[in-house]
Amino acid sequence: MNIQWNAGKYTSDFSFVYQYGNAVTELIEADTGSTILDLGCGNGALSKALKDKGFIVTGMDASADQLAVAREKYPDIPFYQADAADFCLNEPVDVVFSNAVFHWIDADRQPQMLRCVHRALKESGQFVFEMGGCGNNRMIHEALAEVFSEHGYAYSNPFYFPSIGEYASLVEKEGFQVKYALLFDRMTELKGENGLSDWIRMFVKTPFAVVASEAEQERIIEQAVERLRGQLCRDGVWYADYVRLRMRAVKN
Ligand code: BEZ
Repeated sequence: MNIQWNAGKYTSDFSFVYQYGNAVTELIEADTGSTILDLGCGNGALSKALKDKGFIVTGMDASADQLAVAREKYPDIPFYQADAADFCLNEPVDVVFSNAVFHWIDADRQPQMLRCVHRALKESGQFVFEMGGCGNNRMIHEALAEVFSEHGYAYSNPFYFPSIGEYASLVEKEGFQVKYALLFDRMTELKGENGLSDWIRMFVKTPFAVVASEAEQERIIEQAVERLRGQLCRDGVWYADYVRLRMRAVKN
């Protein structure tokens, strides 16, 4: 994972990430009482939604801060700390579910992550997920790249946003049959008059490591945001240009 989470701010100001995830849980085709691993469970909000649907849920996340929030809010759900590309369950589950996580994992670690998911599933188990897809936040990353370049820095997009074709091939190669795949645009409203600059500060951290000072980092953010105002701000409300990739696959 390419991030140090601010779990409190994520829960208070970026709740749309897990709220949108409720629609992804609808893709699961499993009976009440089925076992589910919520991979990259974050603050546990979707683990709780899955439990409320009658599933037996385990949450897993790499972030100790996010897990502390999850454990405090939902003490009756077991949560474990592990890397999504390096974990092993004691007992296989019926479903592995994940929302807004896999784009944080570098492309070269995706096969390893998919092998962990495959091993975690029972025979014919389901793999249901949503992640950022090809073109996700393109306007934002392009504006940041332009402003970085004007300041004499190279911008490196830290995320992996695959197309359906690319990711379905990977998933199939690791022993799954893809039953459903969808790539769609989702303009997403951000909270507050500083919605976009807050979003950049929250989610785009690693590219700024090359920038000399915090003051210059802030100038870059301000300039990128001003460049995007015409495209991503309407009537004072900021939006982010999300593209989602959703899939449901079954273990061969
Ligand atoms: C996403 O959910 O697609 C996403 C969220 C934050 C940063 C990048 C992508």
